[in-house]
Amino acid sequence: GDNELSSRLLMNNSDKILGKGVSPFFQHTVKGWKVNSSLVIMIRKDILRFLDAERDVSVVKSSLKPGDIIHYVLERRRTLNVSHTLHSLLPDVSPMKNRRFKTCAVVGNSGILLNSGCGREIDDHDFVIRCNLAPLDEFSQDVGLRSDFTTMNPSVIQRAFGGLKNDTDRDRFVRRLTALNDSVLWIPAFMVKGGEKHVECVNDLILKNKLRVRTAYPSLRLIHAVRGYWLTNKINIKRPSTGLLMYTLATRFCDEIHLYGFWPFPKDSSGIPVKYHYYDKLKYRYFSNASPHRMPLEFKTLKALHNKGALKLTTSKCT
Ligand code: CTP
Repeated sequence: GDNELSSRLLMNNSDKILGKGVSPFFQHTVKGWKVNSSLVIMIRKDILRFLDAERDVSVVKSSLKPGDIIHYVLERRRTLNVSHTLHSLLPDVSPMKNRRFKTCAVVGNSGILLNSGCGREIDDHDFVIRCNLAPLDEFSQDVGLRSDFTTMNPSVIQRAFGGLKNDTDRDRFVRRLTALNDSVLWIPAFMVKGGEKHVECVNDLILKNKLRVRTAYPSLRLIHAVRGYWLTNKINIKRPSTGLLMYTLATRFCDEIHLYGFWPFPKDSSGIPVKYHYYDKLKYRYFSNASPHRMPLEFKTLKALHNKGALKLTTSKCT
């Protein structure tokens, strides 16, 4: 029937997108990269069969009410109660409604950014997406300052802001959010249990300090839909990383997507050590089989898309 046909179409597209033969992993950067606009449009259309980023980027107010019980997306047996605070911070309409951009930057957090001098180039894009409230000020030469959309896994609160337990950490956190002005703060609050106290605390701080940041909480179907899309391209990713999620969403809004800070390897192409994050001491833990992420597989996929002009992956210095 129709389903079968569309999945066959998808498969054909996939072969075109990612290539039948696997492209060499560490190819030299293709000189004179050029965007392949028809491929960009095809990918956008393919992804739209699975999700609509304009809608799935956030749950909206009218779809929930305080007291509702939500099943965590990745832990179906555990539940979350929608509080008044959370409900009051859900957007009325999608924060990405009708927003379209010529060029976007998706900035990952790899140490490959250090000494890249990419700050200015990143800030020059029409829309800049960043992950997990990574610090900018002291690294602005390499990573830039502009941020239109910032993700925040609840785990970041514990890891980088001391669980917001004392005034110093809370002040630091409020200052970080104040710097976001009225850009989007995207909080995956419904993925796994564990961060709900932190999310509640963040939400309280936003309300109490009347912060202008525009909160968004990804839809319950987003992760499954993203996984589904990549799976039809024969890429089996159990837990897409934040960076891959952001690329997938950005295809809806951006004609040209440039990725920076994607390098999930402990050494660069000349064998020089690369920090896991450009700003902290976190170690590479993503090579064990226990890890939920498969960043090296994701990277290989993104590299193949780079070579076809679907996106531009920058892993060297910017000039
Ligand atoms: N990234 C990368 N190489 C690294 C570190 C990060 O390619 N060495 C990319 C990944 O796509 C990652 C994104 O940058 O998702 C943001 O980094 P991080 O904040 O560490 O990502 P999370 O996926 O949210 O990681 P975690 O689940 O551990 O919070």
